[in-house]
Amino acid sequence: MCGIVGYVGKREASEVLLEGLRRLEYRGYDSAGVSILNGSGLQLRKAVGKLANLEKELRDAPIHGSVGIGHTRWATHGAPSVRNSHPHQSYDGHLSLIHNGIIENYRELKHELQAAGVKFESDTDTEVVAHLVARAYRGDLLKAVAEVLPRLRGAYALALLHQNEPGRVIATRVASPLVLGVGEGENFIASDVPALLKYTRRVIFPEEGQIAEVTRDGVRVFTPDLKPAAAAVQTTELTLDAAEKEGFEHFMLKEIHEQPRAIAETLRGRLNEGAIDLSETGLTAETLKTVRRVAIVACGTSLYASMVGKYLFERFTRLPTETWSASEFRYANPVVDRHTLVISVSQSGETADTLEAVKLAKAAGAATLSVCNVMGSSIPRLSGATLYTRAGPEIGVASTKAYVTQLTAFVLLAVGTGRMLGTATREDETRLVNGLMRVPGQVRALLDKDIVAVKRCARRYKDVFNFMYIGRHYNYPTALEGALKLKEISYIHAEGYAGGEMKHGPLALVEGTFPTIAIAPRGATREKLLSNVQEIRARQGVVVLVATEGDTEAAELADYLIEIPDCAEELSPILAVVPLQLLAYYTATQLGRDVDKPRNLAKSVTVE
Ligand code: G6P
Repeated sequence: MCGIVGYVGKREASEVLLEGLRRLEYRGYDSAGVSILNGSGLQLRKAVGKLANLEKELRDAPIHGSVGIGHTRWATHGAPSVRNSHPHQSYDGHLSLIHNGIIENYRELKHELQAAGVKFESDTDTEVVAHLVARAYRGDLLKAVAEVLPRLRGAYALALLHQNEPGRVIATRVASPLVLGVGEGENFIASDVPALLKYTRRVIFPEEGQIAEVTRDGVRVFTPDLKPAAAAVQTTELTLDAAEKEGFEHFMLKEIHEQPRAIAETLRGRLNEGAIDLSETGLTAETLKTVRRVAIVACGTSLYASMVGKYLFERFTRLPTETWSASEFRYANPVVDRHTLVISVSQSGETADTLEAVKLAKAAGAATLSVCNVMGSSIPRLSGATLYTRAGPEIGVASTKAYVTQLTAFVLLAVGTGRMLGTATREDETRLVNGLMRVPGQVRALLDKDIVAVKRCARRYKDVFNFMYIGRHYNYPTALEGALKLKEISYIHAEGYAGGEMKHGPLALVEGTFPTIAIAPRGATREKLLSNVQEIRARQGVVVLVATEGDTEAAELADYLIEIPDCAEELSPILAVVPLQLLAYYTATQLGRDVDKPRNLAKSVTVE
């Protein structure tokens, strides 16, 4: 949440900062602001709401200068307003600062500063840092920042400018993302790589607690006590094209259509002559021998992928496997020890609760493995091993292609691990490897075919207030994910339920026009779910049925039928979720919602 950018170089800083913020707007869009240093000192512009409002401010009152910092905000402390927008200034007006994260002990620091006579201009937690650094400042911003950092608790990526030090931005991070961009006669900072791609692909990821000094001539990284630290410059594989909409109306739709490629990429090099190859994870029969149980931790959509992962792990490894919402895991005193394998799942690799859950697991001596989409992000850096999902940059706040690649990764992990343990058979492996290889093509076919039925359904039901989604076993999480997609981008209330639980409450909601989306592909629980559908129909409920092509019995029960290609039961969540993503998308667009930036949400939740 919140995106930060910084620039030192030869171009107009305002243009570079706006370009960076545009790429980071997925991290928050409650307000935006920039601070640019020029011959007249620190210049500020801020605007509430989307970035377009700040762009207008800058068009009406441009600022010239080639050093600056910028911020796009997802409000935590203090309502979205100009006074709570970043950059914040120190009490003497000499210093500007931007922040992503939360300063947890800001109250005590604020009291201390107020007692010393400092007046606060905002309700944010961030402002304390600007004042503390100003008080510590004795002619060297780098030293002042280093002096203040030990006093801060919480998560932060910070960037600061001081009017006495033109040409120098100081940045640092603890538990929040930060990337430094290395150019020719110009250098950059950002929360995420896409913000830099227009200018450079050479990047440095500073470690936790390190402090960076960015000038026109170079980037230097220091330890917390200001000793020079080694900073490896990497060349990112991401390209600007991957971060563009490429003719689609929204990133979400583009990303839904990228799913066949994303799945194929996730499989690339991991299937070897009909066998699953997990060698890159470092998991071996030897390391697995000590594992007695598995805990999977994640948030949001990644949590629903983890729930499918649990079923797959138990099926193929016979290891007891739990799924945890990372925010619960952290405070539930979970049973984790050196015989536990903790798998974290995260698209961004930066979700604060998931990151902290990994730290907890490591401290307890557990083996840690992450399933992650962003190379070099915090969670894989902390984990013992990582399986990257290779979905490419996901910009739409509602996760789509990351989800199907996480499901794909779990099939590889569960069956591959099961083979090493001897609990999965060669036949299972061959069956699923063959099935996986067909999935990209099947998803493509689905995308071409289902659009008409889905659009019709979206038109018909866009004005209802409630939706129910039901599924069983592997597709119970599909029901949860389908409901989440609909509510997050259309703002229609939707609930996902295990089909067998309908009789224990939700059936009371069913009456004429109440729509239920039932996910019933071929598999062991199909018949049971069709019985649940009968019970809904007997109460005049409307049923949108997701079923396997050619299932005539299902077709007879459906008010709206959405067909998916035949596949192994274990792979059906990958296919079944696609029409549900499209249903959410078309419902939201017909309601005129801002699909890529739904209200109150942000893509990367870097605060607890
Ligand atoms: C936010 C996003 C979701 C995502 C969740 C977890 O809520 O809007 O799309 O599933 O965070 O994020 P992660 O990056 O850890 O998968």
